[in-house]
Amino acid sequence: MSQRTLVLLKPDAVRRGLIGEIIGRIERKAGWTITALELRTLDRATLETHYAEHKGRPFYEPLLEFMTSGPSVALTVEGERVIEGLRTLSGPTDPIAAAPGSIRGDFGTIVRENLIHASDSEESAERELKIFFPGRD
Ligand code: TYD
Ligand code: MG
Repeated sequence: MSQRTLVLLKPDAVRRGLIGEIIGRIERKAGWTITALELRTLDRATLETHYAEHKGRPFYEPLLEFMTSGPSVALTVEGERVIEGLRTLSGPTDPIAAAPGSIRGDFGTIVRENLIHASDSEESAERELKIFFPGRD
């Protein structure tokens, strides 16, 4: 089942020089293709839409502060079961709980600075792709 998902390499990943490392892992998965890719500093309005489900939670403001602190890389990836696949490749939200071999497990320690976002379902992917790459169908 070919799908498309939205991935963000967060400001910590860019600052730490991990773009190539992370994109390399995505590229090496059989049959997955990067179909859009852009370095950009995300603005607050975009992130408020993206993270609307978390508004009001204690980590929300620090999260937006962090996410606007420098450039991110936004990309779309297409391929077989890529939505679930990128969540697995990323590992769980808390990098300390993430297994070695996953991106968060290999490179992260802080929950907020967990390197990567990947859409968590078909519905999220559809919604998030429209936010970050409007008019690309
Ligand atoms: P969430 O959607 O729960 O995680 P995921 O990115 O794995 O889908 O949360 C969004 C981001 O918010 C998460 O990547 C990091 C940040 N966050 C915190 O800083 N503290 C927290 O306690 C949680 C749950 C998330
Ligand atoms: Mg999420």
